[in-house]
Amino acid sequence: MTAQAANPIILLGPPGAGKGTQARLLEEKHGLIQLSTGDLLRAAVKEGSALGREAKTYMEAGKLAPDDLMIRMIADGLQKPEARRGFILDGFPRTVAQAAALDAMLEQKGLSLGHVIVMAVDEEALITRITGRMTCAKCGEGYHDSFKPTAKPGVCDKCGGTSFIRRPDDNAETMKTRLAAYHAQTAPIIPYYEKRGILRRVDGMAGVDAVALQIEKVLGAV
Ligand code: AP5
Repeated sequence: MTAQAANPIILLGPPGAGKGTQARLLEEKHGLIQLSTGDLLRAAVKEGSALGREAKTYMEAGKLAPDDLMIRMIADGLQKPEARRGFILDGFPRTVAQAAALDAMLEQKGLSLGHVIVMAVDEEALITRITGRMTCAKCGEGYHDSFKPTAKPGVCDKCGGTSFIRRPDDNAETMKTRLAAYHAQTAPIIPYYEKRGILRRVDGMAGVDAVALQIEKVLGAV
């Protein structure tokens, strides 16, 4: 990968755009660290920590959790020694305040953003993506009822696990609130990065491998 691509990357897009899917591929291929605020929050909810209890109500309603909580979470993530290898932010920043806080954190570390990649999608298709999503309870491998089914029904291809999890916020009703939050609070950060000339768009409606290839091209890795 080029030196530029080793700078932090942001994957941006509405719920179900494929941010997590692509972040995991980049992690496997380039050894970058995926910092997913959604995954970190879900882990905190599972643990039953004070942070998890605070975040749960927002997540289940499809609303954004408070900025100060999210900024603290990312500041902790950036302290991890592995993050020095380079990281992909998936689900953060999601407000202009979070974007400004990220700039300050990176500046303190002498880092600057590489690329902000917007995954452009047809919102009609997102409900199907979200409602068909499931994850292996044992190893966390992601699947989709139609787009990425397990090879053998009910058995994880990766670890053989037979129990799968569906997210409580992955339903058509909550999705309306999540999309509204994206438009009202997250989309305004697009011009914030566009002005700096670091924003790139990829077609998130292409197949998973085709999207990955577009991202690799943006990063100058192919
Ligand atoms: P978070 O977990 O970040 O959810 P999200 O942004 O709504 O994104 P998703 O994880 O739902 O979708 P994705 O884009 O990663 O898609 P995926 O790759 O899984 O946040 C959850 C909640 O936490 C928020 O609502 C909020 O409450 C809180 N939160 C988190 N961060 C926050 C922050 N910074 N500030 C405040 N609150 C915050 O793909 C979806 C499905 O589609 C999968 O099944 C996949 O297999 C399939 N798929 C993926 N790509 C393709 C493709 N190209 N073609 C066909 N199918 C595909």
